[in-house]
Amino acid sequence: PDIGQIYNLNDFEFVARHTMDKVAWCYYSSGCDDEITLRENHLAYSRFYFKPRVMVDVSNIDLSTTMLGTKTSSPFYITATALGRLGHPDGEKVLTRAAAKQDIIQMIPTLASCSFDEIVDEATDAQTQWFQLYVHADREICRKLIVHAEKRGVKGLFITVDAPQLGRREKDMRSKNFEDLSHVQEDDEGADRSQGAARAISSFIDTSLSWKDIKWFRSVTKMPIILKGVQTIEDALTAAEHGVDGIVLSNHGGRQLEFTRPPIELLSELMPILRKRNMADRMEVYVDGGVRRATDVLKAICLGAKGVGIGRPFLYAMSTYGVDGVFKAIQILKDEMIMNMRLLGVTSIDQLSPNYIDSRAAPRV
Ligand code: FNR
Repeated sequence: PDIGQIYNLNDFEFVARHTMDKVAWCYYSSGCDDEITLRENHLAYSRFYFKPRVMVDVSNIDLSTTMLGTKTSSPFYITATALGRLGHPDGEKVLTRAAAKQDIIQMIPTLASCSFDEIVDEATDAQTQWFQLYVHADREICRKLIVHAEKRGVKGLFITVDAPQLGRREKDMRSKNFEDLSHVQEDDEGADRSQGAARAISSFIDTSLSWKDIKWFRSVTKMPIILKGVQTIEDALTAAEHGVDGIVLSNHGGRQLEFTRPPIELLSELMPILRKRNMADRMEVYVDGGVRRATDVLKAICLGAKGVGIGRPFLYAMSTYGVDGVFKAIQILKDEMIMNMRLLGVTSIDQLSPNYIDSRAAPRV
């Protein structure tokens, strides 16, 4: 259908499901095991309600905010998703171009289809990019990647900590056509391909990664260090104690361990604890997983997130309509943000607070 008939992010998913190459669709859309966590990530948002305030002058709405010290046009970013060329011949560069036009931050994945330098070269001078790191068992390879990213101007190092081994994504395993994987630099000839695209390319990941390694990362870079994939209050507190600059509450979009808590629920529990212990200002807290509407973004920001990552919707937009699609997906979210902030009775991101959320329908511990 014509892009003019796309009204929300779910519409991109609908078109993608019916028009995308099967291998790409299966890799992008799949979750682990029975995909319950994948569904819950989004459904959990529907258990939080708004408490809108009326009689507020909402003539001028400002969506801009800062993440890791960088100013950006909206409190959501394009998170790291591997293998962009499965969905579009220009791969991750499509996301870079749209992000530039919309002043949105893009996180570059270790397992991008395009080379890291290609993606950085595609960016404008004004554009902010982060780097997602899968920690390689060979630390020298790791160190080089990090040092190079910093030299190229990357503004944040997101270390993925929820994937010592990639989860079992059976939809992906069934579509056994991995030709496109030849684009991946880290592709390992000896990898076991019977377990699906994801598993085949992840055999280099260091299964021994642990808290003591934070010091080492600090010694190799001045970039802010953020742990991506924290899934409990306990680990969030430990991360703060280790002095990281941020965490992403994430279960990898429901692709890793099945039955981990939806990030929005975890966030609503974590922030009061951080505030009580005076630790809320020590690190920035991000969430990703299941964000499909500006109302989702607003709920997360109200509950204390500094920003929100979005994965699949941008992949679907990229795969179906290219740069125009991703541009439009971001524009839809921005338009929804402005409308919903008006209806909520706030005019800027810093006004969003737990006072605007009724969490009585959400599960409590
Ligand atoms: C991912 N994600 C991911 N995360 C990461 O740290 N490194 C990676 O290489 C990838 N690759 C990847 C591929 C695909 C196809 C998906 C869908 C996801 C996880 C991603 O960063 C993020 O946590 C989720 O995508 C967020 O959930 P939504 O927005 O897709 O629901």
